[in-house]
Amino acid sequence: MKAFLKFISLAAVAASLMCSCQDNAKSGYDELDAWAENIVAAKRASMGYPVNQNIQLDRFYKWYLANNLENVGLNNVGDPFGKAGGLLGAHNFEREVIEYFAPFYDYELDNLWGIVTNSGTDGNNHGIYFGVNYLRNLTGKMPIMYVSDEAHYSNPRIADLQNLELRLVKSDPMGRMIPEELEKVLDPTRPCLMVYAMGSTFKGAIDDMDALNAVLDAYPEMMVYRHVDAALFGGYLVFTEHRDMVSSKKYRINSMAISGHKFFGLDDPAGVFLTTRDVYDHQSNNSVPYLNGDMKMINCSRSTSSVLKFWWMIHEIGEQQWHQQAEAILENTRYFKEQLDKIGYPNWLNEYSNTIFFKRPSDEVCKKYMLAPNYDEQFGGELSHLVVMQHVDKTLIDEFVRDIQ
Ligand SMILES: Cc1ncc(COP(=O)(O)O)c(C=O)c1O
Repeated sequence: MKAFLKFISLAAVAASLMCSCQDNAKSGYDELDAWAENIVAAKRASMGYPVNQNIQLDRFYKWYLANNLENVGLNNVGDPFGKAGGLLGAHNFEREVIEYFAPFYDYELDNLWGIVTNSGTDGNNHGIYFGVNYLRNLTGKMPIMYVSDEAHYSNPRIADLQNLELRLVKSDPMGRMIPEELEKVLDPTRPCLMVYAMGSTFKGAIDDMDALNAVLDAYPEMMVYRHVDAALFGGYLVFTEHRDMVSSKKYRINSMAISGHKFFGLDDPAGVFLTTRDVYDHQSNNSVPYLNGDMKMINCSRSTSSVLKFWWMIHEIGEQQWHQQAEAILENTRYFKEQLDKIGYPNWLNEYSNTIFFKRPSDEVCKKYMLAPNYDEQFGGELSHLVVMQHVDKTLIDEFVRDIQ
C-alpha cells in the first residue's frame, strides 16, 4: 500500500511538471501563479497611481530572451559620459537616451550631463546632492533647501538624508507654492537650493516658476540652484503645446528628474536625470581607481535593462506617438472632469494636470480602481485622486462614473 501511494504521488509530481512544461504561464508555484493572474487582471482599472499600463515591451522581451540576455549579468556602473566606458553594461545606449531627451527640455548637447536613474526619487536625490555641491563649491557656504509642503515626500526625505537645512514653503489650497510664503522664509545670506514641483503627487499642482523666480531675483547676490521634480508631468508636457513649461532655459532649471515608469511606460522603476556639464564640473571629485574614472553620481550599480528599455521605447514608440498619447491624456482628463461635474460629484483639477482629486468614494470603488487616499480639511476631509494615464480611456471613465453613482 505504501509503495502504491508513493507511486501515485510521484506520478502526480511528474504530471504537474509535464503540465508546467506544456503551459508556460504556470511556474509550478501556486502562490506565484495566483499573484500573476491577479495583478494582470487588476491593471485594466488601476488609476490611483501614475503608471502607464499600456506597456509595449513584448518585442523587447522576445529579443532579450532570444539573445539569452537573461543569463548575462549586466550593470551600467560608471559614468556614461566618462572616458572609461562601461564594461558590464551599455553606456553608449545610456548616452543616446540622455542625448535624445535633453533637447526636449532645452538642454544643449554641448553642455549636458545625465544618467538613467533607478527611479524618480533617485533623480531627486541626484538633483539635490548636485545642487548642494554646486552651491557649496562656488560660494563656500552650505545652501538652504526650499520646497513646497505639497511636493513629493521624497524631497524633504532626501533633505533629511543629506542633513540639509530645509524650509518647507506653504502651498495654496490647490497645491502651488505661495510666492509670499517663500519670501517670508527666504534667507538671502545663504545660497538657495530651490526644488520646484512640476506636478505635485496628490493634487497635480505645478509651482508657478515665473512668480517664484521673481521672488528669488529680488536678491541678485544670492546664488540659486533650481531642481525640478517633474516625475510625471515632465514626461507628457514636453509632448504638448505647453512644452515651454519644462524649458530649462526659460526657467533657469539646473537639473530635472523625470520618471520612466510613469508616462514612458517602462515596466520597472526607472527615470532620467538631466543636468548641465557646468553643474557636473562643479561637483567634488571622486576618483575611483577600480572603475577607472571619476564617480560623481551617488549610486554605484545602475540598471542596464532600464537603459535598453528606454532606448527601445525611443525607437519603437518615439516622438509622434508620445505626442498623441500626451494629447489623449489631457483630452481624457477634461472628459473625466466633465462627467464628474455632470453628476455633481465634488472634484478638483489643476491646469495642465492629468490628476483629478475628489471626495473619497466607497471602499469598494477605491479597491476596484486602486485609488490613492488622502485627507484635506480644505476640501471637506477624505479625498482620493486618480491619474489619467494612457490606459484610462472613455469606456473606463464611463464605467467609473457609473460605479460612483
Ligand atoms: C511628483 C513625484 N516625484 C517623485 C516621485 C517618486 O518617484 P519614484 O516612485 O519613481 O521614486 C513621485 C511618485 O509618484 C511623484 O509623484
